[in-house]
Amino acid sequence: MAVSPAVAKLMDEYKRFADIKMNDLFNKDHQRADKYTIEFENLTFDYSKNRFDDGVLQALLALAEEHHLKERIEDMFSGKKINVTENRAVLHTALRNFSGKSVCVDGNDVMPEIRRVLAKMKEFSESVRNGSFKGYTGKKLKNIVNIGIGGSDLGPYMVTAALKKYWAKDINCYFISNIDGTACAEVLGQINPEETLFIVASKTFTTIETLTNAKTCREWLVKALGDKAVANHFVALSTNAKAVAEFGIDTNNMFEFWDFVGGRYSLWSAIGLSIALAIGYDNFEALLKGAEAMDNHFRTAPFEKNIPVIMALLGIWYNDYYNIHRYAVIPYDQYLKFLPSYLQQLDMESNGKSVRLDNRKITDYATGPALFGGAGTDVQHSFFQLLHQGTEPVPVDFIIPAVSQNEIGKHHEILLANILAQAEALMKGKSIEEAAAELREKGKSEEEIEKLKLNKSFDGNRPSNMFIIDKLTPFALGMLIAMYEHKVYTQGVIWEIDSFDQWGVELGKQLALKILPELESGVSAKHDCSTEKLINKVRNIRAKEVKKAA
Ligand code: F6P
Repeated sequence: MAVSPAVAKLMDEYKRFADIKMNDLFNKDHQRADKYTIEFENLTFDYSKNRFDDGVLQALLALAEEHHLKERIEDMFSGKKINVTENRAVLHTALRNFSGKSVCVDGNDVMPEIRRVLAKMKEFSESVRNGSFKGYTGKKLKNIVNIGIGGSDLGPYMVTAALKKYWAKDINCYFISNIDGTACAEVLGQINPEETLFIVASKTFTTIETLTNAKTCREWLVKALGDKAVANHFVALSTNAKAVAEFGIDTNNMFEFWDFVGGRYSLWSAIGLSIALAIGYDNFEALLKGAEAMDNHFRTAPFEKNIPVIMALLGIWYNDYYNIHRYAVIPYDQYLKFLPSYLQQLDMESNGKSVRLDNRKITDYATGPALFGGAGTDVQHSFFQLLHQGTEPVPVDFIIPAVSQNEIGKHHEILLANILAQAEALMKGKSIEEAAAELREKGKSEEEIEKLKLNKSFDGNRPSNMFIIDKLTPFALGMLIAMYEHKVYTQGVIWEIDSFDQWGVELGKQLALKILPELESGVSAKHDCSTEKLINKVRNIRAKEVKKAA
């Protein structure tokens, strides 16, 4: 099959690079770290521990040119309808545009509406925080319960956890996302209705999980305080005013956003209300400003100095040339422990696609990799074995603040030592000879050495990026999140897919709606014999057990 000039060049580069080891590149070039580090604001991005050199980089940059990346970035920022399957503009960047410049969709400037909703969020969050907006019985609202799922949950959940240090002392945040009744039961069991504000967060306001959870919470509140209390205890974040009103929330208590904001890109919009309530509006604005700084960097920095572009290109290098279809994000900060699950939706719902923008099925290259991760050092004691000695390398993003929000004793230095050691170990490895020499030094017999030396050796040459921020502030977090958003978009441009739709979540939803009445009635429609058997099995168990428990 004919390939483009940039792809042909990259295939050659891949062959040329096959036997080159990162260790040798470092030994030959002591400036490698300086050369392949980008400093931006309070962020240091060291990408020198990757399997590439200038030749590979030039070929990757040519690939970006070939896909008109510069123009495609402008298309996004300027409100062009780049979400083609939904015919929508993609303007999460407008939500953090403090430049005073207008951003138009279909000839209409969206900025006045964005500013209006931000002002409403500021006023409301301040009135809840200072106690002037009270619960129905006159008590201060201290419990914020966000009811949402996917993008209407993961962003606020991750950000509020990440910025816990900035929370008001008398405010607690809870998140109910899963349809599993346990999610509701566990939160409702901890809180006093008189002091609770429910935020029903749903872009479409049709999502079964969110509406079912919201209904349960509403019934719980009404049972305790009566119907009239709903106005003081429920607000909605949505694009769908009609459905909000039908649910029984006054649209005056609704914070609006728009269909040019994708669910997984929505934490910067009204969906961020729980964040503003927890950390205060000024800190929420600092988060937006951090994202805006990264937007400007992405839009204006030359590609060879552009953090999201370099991240994206290296990701493509591994995904499409090395055939490594997975990567790990490991924040070494307890507050960032939910970052990997947030990024899973951002990356995998955006780029887990197999249809091109020109409507052809993708058969000859891979798109979005699987992403996993967790907080270091915890995960060193779970899946790092595979990262170091598994049969295939896994590229890693390491993230750490140089200064902890909790500087206690030597904790942070130990944490720093670990992250730096892990990246070095993955890159350097340990040869069989080195392993044997270590065993010899420990006095092992030659027989024991023979038995152990292979197991104790490490191939190395395993790639990683290192991100160091000064401190986990709202601004720094905003930068980091926007950096990943733009990395994902850049990869989508090169893979020629629509990174902003999510048709792949629909089939399961449709089938669940079909199975639900069958579970209730016992009349099973046509399924495969496995699904039919399972429907009957759970129905029979429930008929016995639920009756017993009642
Ligand atoms: O999982 C599919 C999805 O549409 C996500 O893209 C979205 O973030 C989530 O469901 C929630 O949707 P909504 O905010 O409309 O309830």
